[in-house]
Amino acid sequence: MSKRPKFVAGNWKMYTSRGVAKELAAAVAQGAPAGVQVAVFPPSVWLTTVADALAGSAVGLGAQNCHFEKEGAFTGELSPQMLLEAGCRYTLVGHSERRHGLGEIHDFLNKKAKAALAAGLHVIFCVGELLAEREANQTEAVLEKQLTDGLAGIPAEHLPNLVIAYEPVWAIGTGKVATPEQAQAAHAFIRRKFAALFGEKSASVLLILYGGSVKPENAADLLHQPDVDGALVGGASMKADSFLGIVRAAV
Ligand code: 13P
Repeated sequence: MSKRPKFVAGNWKMYTSRGVAKELAAAVAQGAPAGVQVAVFPPSVWLTTVADALAGSAVGLGAQNCHFEKEGAFTGELSPQMLLEAGCRYTLVGHSERRHGLGEIHDFLNKKAKAALAAGLHVIFCVGELLAEREANQTEAVLEKQLTDGLAGIPAEHLPNLVIAYEPVWAIGTGKVATPEQAQAAHAFIRRKFAALFGEKSASVLLILYGGSVKPENAADLLHQPDVDGALVGGASMKADSFLGIVRAAV
């Protein structure tokens, strides 16, 4: 077992009303056990509401996306500085729903990751292959490209604030979870690739989360793999009971 701390994050995507977000955040803040890092990623419009609900708890707040400029004529976007001021400690970058649904590509994601880290946010950088890519034995090539291009030029001093999430696209929201062996193999590959890019020392402390249909019932098996340091949870993070069940599986 690694000495890396476990980290469980809940991505609420474009779900929740303000009232639900507030209640869910309060229940997570109250129920999260010590010994695991926990964070929630509500829709941006509820960030300050959730920040208030989490006040005084150890549960972190994150945004699902951020822009790479500090300010400017970027209609609909939010800068890292704005997210920090709203109470965020984290942001996601490169979620597959933005890569594949909204056409965000390597260079754009690289700029976002670098800007968010430079501003002082912690970044969860998401990678993962499509089903067709896995079936064509291209998983490692896809992950390698996403990591090499997406993380290019990140300075060494910002690496401690970087987390990787491996989210195979075929497992997201499908109920089809990667087997613990599939997750472990991908995570070990990501760690090796990270070591080649940034050195063994940075790779040994890098947190790599698994995402894709994580539920309380399958969490423990995934989280006990040596290179799985936590989970990025979608559907099951929208109910306090199931999310906290996953968090407890990480203790
Ligand atoms: P599900 O847990 O709903 O499969 O979503 C995973 C995900 O996309 C988390 O970012």
